[in-house]
Amino acid sequence: MMTRLKASLLAFAVLAASAGFAVAQEADQPKPPEQNWSFHGVFGRFDQAQLQRGFQVYREVCSNCHRLSIPFRTLEDQDGPGYSEAQVKALAATYQVTNDEPNDQGKIFQRPGTPADTFPPPDAFPNDQAAAAALGKAPPDMWLLAKSIKYERGFPWFITDVFTGYQEDGTDLIYGVLTGYTHKDDPQWNLYYPGHRIAMPMPLQDGAVKYTDGTPDTVQNYAKDVAAFLTWAAEPTMMERKRIGFRAIVFLIVLSVLMYLVKKRIWADAH
Ligand code: HEC
Repeated sequence: MMTRLKASLLAFAVLAASAGFAVAQEADQPKPPEQNWSFHGVFGRFDQAQLQRGFQVYREVCSNCHRLSIPFRTLEDQDGPGYSEAQVKALAATYQVTNDEPNDQGKIFQRPGTPADTFPPPDAFPNDQAAAAALGKAPPDMWLLAKSIKYERGFPWFITDVFTGYQEDGTDLIYGVLTGYTHKDDPQWNLYYPGHRIAMPMPLQDGAVKYTDGTPDTVQNYAKDVAAFLTWAAEPTMMERKRIGFRAIVFLIVLSVLMYLVKKRIWADAH
């Protein structure tokens, strides 16, 4: 009896200490606030209008520095931004891309993009070295950004996340960084960037992008929309994965019921 009490007390002490540790860590590196994402959970879906607004923010602001290594054609994804073939063709043609093969004179040449081409690097920064020389650090390629950046969830979240299906840590962190420039006099101080000093100067201002669907032109909305867009870009097959996951669960439930009935039947005969 006594040892059991001691064990419980010990377990409690360990839990309390790790919680305290997590809190101490947070004080230095706050967690970005969790947003309500339309694509959260098993039934979550991308919001097409939001992805289109997010792409607009990427195109008008982020693409000045960040590369996005996806083919134009992916923007036709019906689970994603869902642009028409004609829209994507017209969009691709507004970019100049480097042809894979040299011309008859052996010269590498530029031509207008086609849907099969990948977004070219920003005009100002043809490569990472050029960007790092100008900005102090090279801006990461945005293709996988939403999956590659993470923050410490800490105790007890890393346990509860398994049950709530929380997977939007990269998305929340992008939103957090974009809205985390809270020192008005210092455009490179960021609440959610490790160490608080970020090489990216505050990229968004209210009104900088003109939405055409009536969504207010605020930093919060730009940040939310572009974070959603980048989440889709990093995992365009997310909807498919969720559909398959859901079917697998339904299948397992049906299978369990059948097995139960079979078992009952077999044992009924045995009696
Ligand atoms: C003026 C150039 C510039 C613009 C415009 C810009 N960025 Fe950046 N961005 C950078 C640089 C440079 C870094 C690397 C910062 C660092 O690691 O200190 C960066 C880093 C980031 C990070 C942090 C990645 C990490 O490692 O945690 C995110 C998120 C990000 N950018 C998103 C965006 C989004 C979204 C936009 C458009 C709304 C945007 N950026 C516009 C230059 C830019």
